[in-house]
Amino acid sequence: MLATLLSATLVALDGRVIRVEVDVAPGLPGFTIVGLGDASIREARERVRGALRNAGFVHPPRRITVNLAPADVPKTGSAADLAIAIGILIGSEQFTPRAGRAALIGEVSLGGEIRPVPGLLPMVAALARRSVRRVIVPADGADEARLVDGLEVVPAATLVEAVDALRSRRRAAPTRPARVELAPAAAASAGRPGPALAPPLPPPDLADVRGQVEARRALEVALAGGHGLLMIGPPGTGKTMLARTIPKLLPPLSDADSLSATIVASASGEGPIHALVRTPPFRAPHHTSSYAAIVGGGPRLAPGEVTRADNGVLFLDELAEFSRDVLEALRQPLEDGRVSIVRAAGAVTLPARFQLVAATNPCPCGHAGEDDRCICGESVPARYVGRISGPLRDRIDVWVTLARIRAAVMFDDAEPESSDVVGARIAAARALQQARPGGKLNSRIGSRGLRAVARLRPVTRDRLSELADAERLSGRGTERLLRVARTVADLAGADAVEVEHLEEAARWRPPSSRPVMALAV
Ligand SMILES: Nc1ncnc2c1ncn2[C@@H]1O[C@H](COP(=O)(O)OP(=O)(O)OP(=O)(O)O)[C@@H](O)[C@H]1O
Ligand SMILES: [Mg+2]
Repeated sequence: MLATLLSATLVALDGRVIRVEVDVAPGLPGFTIVGLGDASIREARERVRGALRNAGFVHPPRRITVNLAPADVPKTGSAADLAIAIGILIGSEQFTPRAGRAALIGEVSLGGEIRPVPGLLPMVAALARRSVRRVIVPADGADEARLVDGLEVVPAATLVEAVDALRSRRRAAPTRPARVELAPAAAASAGRPGPALAPPLPPPDLADVRGQVEARRALEVALAGGHGLLMIGPPGTGKTMLARTIPKLLPPLSDADSLSATIVASASGEGPIHALVRTPPFRAPHHTSSYAAIVGGGPRLAPGEVTRADNGVLFLDELAEFSRDVLEALRQPLEDGRVSIVRAAGAVTLPARFQLVAATNPCPCGHAGEDDRCICGESVPARYVGRISGPLRDRIDVWVTLARIRAAVMFDDAEPESSDVVGARIAAARALQQARPGGKLNSRIGSRGLRAVARLRPVTRDRLSELADAERLSGRGTERLLRVARTVADLAGADAVEVEHLEEAARWRPPSSRPVMALAV
């Protein structure tokens, strides 16, 4: 007998509805799955066989053919397991579904449990768009599925529970209204873990960071305007520590951004997700990360770090140690806020509007610029920082050098400003930018928009031109200076960009015209 059920698969960040046709026919026992499935779909045969047997059903000794339609959508992952298992039970007449048409999503274990799968949220959303009214999902993924309005979510922890749900006409207990319980803004997202082995370290507070007045200010300016930031300094000066304070400094995401961040988190397999993700992502991939891990890809078109940092911060610690390929690959997302993943089957484009924050030593030994401590040889430091190529340098608006911190400062009794205080200023400055026409952060404003928001008076324009001439800034360099100055003005609550704001912004320009050796001073 033929059974036809609905399920879904994930293509990058999008859910696609698929039809699972299961034919259980007389003939030599066999189990074939057709319809552009990847290796994990082929392995579904073994999982389903074990699950049926161990849940007390019979794996029929017949010729079983499963067709996943439409044939042109590549199917990946294990989300169709449940539909295949139920299809076999219906096809072999082990039970008859009574309830109206329901879709099924979930991976089955050999023991017959139903396990969560990456991308449940976009998959359920795809079913809702196709007017499916009822979906059976893994019990652990129920909260995530309920973020989608307009369809009934039935959680099932085991195959037996899924069968019961299909047998009964009774509607499940009323679902919780969607989107009521939002993640507290303070919930640490310092690298919201994937399938983490160790819990993430809580972000440090700015009150714990001693000295480094310039770097603290540079961080504040960069976060207030969404500007790319590079911190350069010898080891142990607090670069990594400063970057790790970021999650506590950023305001929560807007509703729209929060939904897209939740979809990315879901598709990246960060679940189980219980509420919309409200904290901006902070991703800190290691410098040995592969190209695919950063950009995205692989058989499942899994989103890479640039996409997982969308609407948040991508922190590249030890920037100069990243492979050239990876650094080059950052050009497109930094330019367009999107990243294309090209595969034999075609290209997909994923969002990647992240703010780049990076840190590096000035040279491999870390001590360039500190008198005679550097052991690298004369030309090495220049080459080292030179690995950060032109296009990447152009995208970093705020450059700051950190020097070794003196013990007297380190153990001074006066406590520096806390993350709460600085975070409030950042949020206020961002709110000013978002209230302007277009609502963009200063780092993303185009040339025309920048002219309008800068509100330069003649005296300020003269000063800008002096600064640009002194530094021989290109057109782009001048815009960058003005953009950062606009953020400095926003932090001061000023309506127009004034000379003092320009002068502060000039402190954060890239050191292209200065020798690299001077960087770490
Ligand atoms: N400015 C600072 N204030 C307070 N503690 C600091 C400061 N700088 C460094 N430390 C202490 O030193 C530790 C190491 O600092 P951190 O990892 O931030 O250095 P880094 O600049 O990233 O060095 P590296 O170049 O080796 O990565 C911190 O965890 C902290 O305990
Ligand atoms: Mg470090």
